[in-house]
Amino acid sequence: MNDIEAILSRGSIRKYTSEHVPDQVVSELLEAAMAAPSARNEQPWHFVVINERKILDEIPKFHPYSQMLKQAPLAILICSDEKLERHKDYWVQDCSAATKNLLIAAHAKSLGAVWLGIYPREERVEGMRKLLDIPEHVIPFALISIGYPAERKPPANRFDESRIHYNKW
Ligand SMILES: Cc1cc2nc3c(=O)[nH]c(=O)nc-3n(C[C@H](O)[C@H](O)[C@H](O)COP(=O)(O)O)c2cc1C
Repeated sequence: MNDIEAILSRGSIRKYTSEHVPDQVVSELLEAAMAAPSARNEQPWHFVVINERKILDEIPKFHPYSQMLKQAPLAILICSDEKLERHKDYWVQDCSAATKNLLIAAHAKSLGAVWLGIYPREERVEGMRKLLDIPEHVIPFALISIGYPAERKPPANRFDESRIHYNKW
């Protein structure tokens, strides 16, 4: 699969087989995430790999749209570290770029994945913080549920000419 195919054929996958995701593959996903662009190359991110069943099962208790985690063998939490942030307020964009890289890499590696929003929902941010012992200067941003797919999705074609403007609005 080439890069553009990976982008155009990706879809959120919420059903997984029980197959284990090898550590080497997890490393490759993290390498792809950390290759993301960031403002002034600040890279304000941290990643928490969650592969313990009892921790994964706790998350749907405070995140209502994360039920697929009960089946997922793995999730990765993308966080921002205020202590690494020198250019205020860019961290959301930086962490979004890392999150999207990770999603595309998962798809390219024949995994299924879905982005689960954490920040800015206070109860989800605090829920993740408590569950994983995350310090106050670190903000849980997004969680990606990952596993080998047990469902297939046709590619969505969202190309829309009406959203494109040349030179002026
Ligand atoms: C910021 C953000 C938060 C999201 N949160 C959730 C979520 O909590 N639960 C979920 O099942 N999907 C979540 N999604 C996935 C979207 O529902 C999905 O990307 C969208 O419906 C488009 O479908 P596609 O990913 O298959 O193209 C989220 C996506 C984004 C970008």
